[in-house]
Amino acid sequence: MTITIRAIGPCFAGEVHGLDMRNPLSAEEVAAIHAGMDKYAVLVFRDQKIDDAQQLAFSRSLGEIEHAIGTSLRAAGDYRLPTTFADVSNLDKNNMPFARDDRRRLFGIGNRLWHSDSSFKTVPAKYSLLHAISIPSTGGDTQFADMRAAYDALDEETKAQLEGMVCEHSQMYSRQQIGFFDFTDEERQRFRPVRQCMVRVHPVTGRKSLYLSSHAGGIVGWPLPEALIFLRDLIERTTQREFVYTHKWRVGDLVMWDNRQTMHRARPFPAHEPRDMRRTTLAGDGPTAAQAA
Ligand code: OGA
Ligand code: MN
Repeated sequence: MTITIRAIGPCFAGEVHGLDMRNPLSAEEVAAIHAGMDKYAVLVFRDQKIDDAQQLAFSRSLGEIEHAIGTSLRAAGDYRLPTTFADVSNLDKNNMPFARDDRRRLFGIGNRLWHSDSSFKTVPAKYSLLHAISIPSTGGDTQFADMRAAYDALDEETKAQLEGMVCEHSQMYSRQQIGFFDFTDEERQRFRPVRQCMVRVHPVTGRKSLYLSSHAGGIVGWPLPEALIFLRDLIERTTQREFVYTHKWRVGDLVMWDNRQTMHRARPFPAHEPRDMRRTTLAGDGPTAAQAA
């Protein structure tokens, strides 16, 4: 069966038909998916009846896995999933929803800010693949914003200002925006900032995009308040409706996005209802900027 892709978003995002992730991919299918990602930046695969091993195998056929080590507030014995998965659920290791005031939950709520996955790592993520195992009765959509179209829409003065710009990213910066300040000394060390360039060029298409993320909490060489208001303004401009695709989840959906070309955020849902979402992540090629000495 050959893969077809139907456009579903305003300027990006496609729905893939003719692919069953339970089967190994042919070289043609791998090429078609990468080409689809280069074009659409977000791909939706409906009704994938896969288990974790099949999600992992599918992900590995597209690239190298990024492990989720030291990126959450879970302690060593507290993981529900192996490190080949980012646990995007609101569940403890016994599959029970976190209490409303649990700091693991409150840290996870940071996903409701616009971001790009692992922009807080020196080598940030390439693709993310999120599979819905269970969903809440209401809410819990995921939104995506096209950072290529958003870049294209900027005025020339702003584009010139962004050229060569480098930002500092940390999970502490995104959490501080929602009033989460209580990091331990160990966490402060683990979450220390990394540098990312602001404008990225896609290696295949050559298209430029804005590498924005709520993890960005400073611009190298800028006074802090001016940097924060500049970043806030850019995120506001680049996440307007014309650039946004909203995904309404069904159990069995797998959505794959390119973190180099998009931002995303989770939308709210009832705290006591389980939302079991499991993410595999493909590693990026290398750093986007030189790190501080
Ligand atoms: C993620 C993420 C959003 C959501 O998986 O990286 O931010 O809606 N998910 O769960
Ligand atoms: Mn994310």
